[in-house]
Amino acid sequence: MKQEHGYEPAVKGKIHYLNFPKKVTKGGEQSSKDEGQKNPEQKNLDKIFPTVDKEVFTLKPSLPVYFIRPASIKRAAQFFLENFQNNKHESDVLYSVKSNPDRAVLQHLFDSGIKHFDVASLAEVRLIDELFGKEAKMYFMHPIKSREAIFEAYFNFGIRDFVLDSLDELKKITDVTKNARDLGLHVRLAVSNSSAMINLSGKFGILPSKSLALLRKTRASANRMGICFHVGSQCMDPIEYRNAIMTAKNVAEKAKVKLDVLDIGGGFPSSYPGMTPPNLRSYFDEIFDTISQINLDANCRLWCEPGRALVAESGSLLVRIEGKKNAMLYLNDGTYGGLFDAGVPNFIYPARAIRIRGKIPLSANTTSFGFYGPTCDSMDVMKGPFQLPTNIAEGDYIEIGQLGAYSRSIRTEFNGFDKNLQIEVCDEPLVSMYQEEDLIEQSIVG
Ligand SMILES: Cc1ncc(COP(=O)(O)O)c(C=O)c1O
Repeated sequence: MKQEHGYEPAVKGKIHYLNFPKKVTKGGEQSSKDEGQKNPEQKNLDKIFPTVDKEVFTLKPSLPVYFIRPASIKRAAQFFLENFQNNKHESDVLYSVKSNPDRAVLQHLFDSGIKHFDVASLAEVRLIDELFGKEAKMYFMHPIKSREAIFEAYFNFGIRDFVLDSLDELKKITDVTKNARDLGLHVRLAVSNSSAMINLSGKFGILPSKSLALLRKTRASANRMGICFHVGSQCMDPIEYRNAIMTAKNVAEKAKVKLDVLDIGGGFPSSYPGMTPPNLRSYFDEIFDTISQINLDANCRLWCEPGRALVAESGSLLVRIEGKKNAMLYLNDGTYGGLFDAGVPNFIYPARAIRIRGKIPLSANTTSFGFYGPTCDSMDVMKGPFQLPTNIAEGDYIEIGQLGAYSRSIRTEFNGFDKNLQIEVCDEPLVSMYQEEDLIEQSIVG
């Protein structure tokens, strides 16, 4: 049912899955003809999924819309599964659920071969268990957990691997699990995050120079023992992995502990305007070259925990301009919604304008715009700059790319602006890290 102004009525729930996992028609009813379509990404995508433009013209959405690209999720998953491989060591790719815990995204990752999940909370544990049951393996990678979370994870969900960065946490885990003999315990080191956009060693991780006693005590309680670290999110220099791996090797040698697992964490980058990282393959080259030079036990497994690099480019967020003052555009979403990282961390995202009303086309010349979000808070501002057509105006839409990671998971209900839609599409991402060889060409639209 359309409202009199011609836009679709506000939806009741937080998300409408228009395509997956339950097909919902625009009126909100289940579409029976689409049921049983369990593996859509294996079929001809453009016959199944619409394009962003088609959906915008059809729906004229008043709410922000997430567009997700199943083909892009599959491509990134396959890239990691194929490239995080080593002829000497077994390896596992753990998806970091926090980067996007959307059910459809998780299902596409799972269908693409990702069966290991880095979880940080009981909510994430329950979600993965509900979706995949015993077919998924979970690892509790939060260094400071509640006793209740450890108890439930171990006794109710069969999780055996836990991260820690202090003697207190080691004691907590062994107390709660009643000195279980089948624990996988992984010591998180604080390593340099100096090439990353988001620092993840500030609050977690033990300094390598202080880690020896913890490593020895952890070894004594562990069935399998690992060292892990995080070089920081959106790490722009592969050398950081080399340095961190060398640090891990040095402390393990000094403490005289055998490693069953070396977990190199997340941090793999995506591509943003003004922030084009080196080719992803160079990260794996650096990692495996370093590993070939250190004397790891042949049985030592290698883990990585990507979040951003697996899902960022698969998702974009469509916003509508509700007002314009000079070079500032007032949007229907902002830093309290899906654009948190465009706020203080000042991520600049690729953006392209879509006009569906009027006869005047969008101009070819562009202007640097900043954005305001819809809340009353002056901190709800995104400096950008975002390059958009100079004559962009109220009622126009902007597709903002690279928001498949750290967007949906960070939304708040502040000021009542939490509602949004989600639609699966067949378009290529606005920017891609997976453009080499027979993969797609890097393209920035708009
Ligand atoms: C423990 C842990 N692993 C993995 C990740 C994923 O990092 P990224 O998205 O940079 O790959 C995070 C992100 O915060 C994390 O805290």
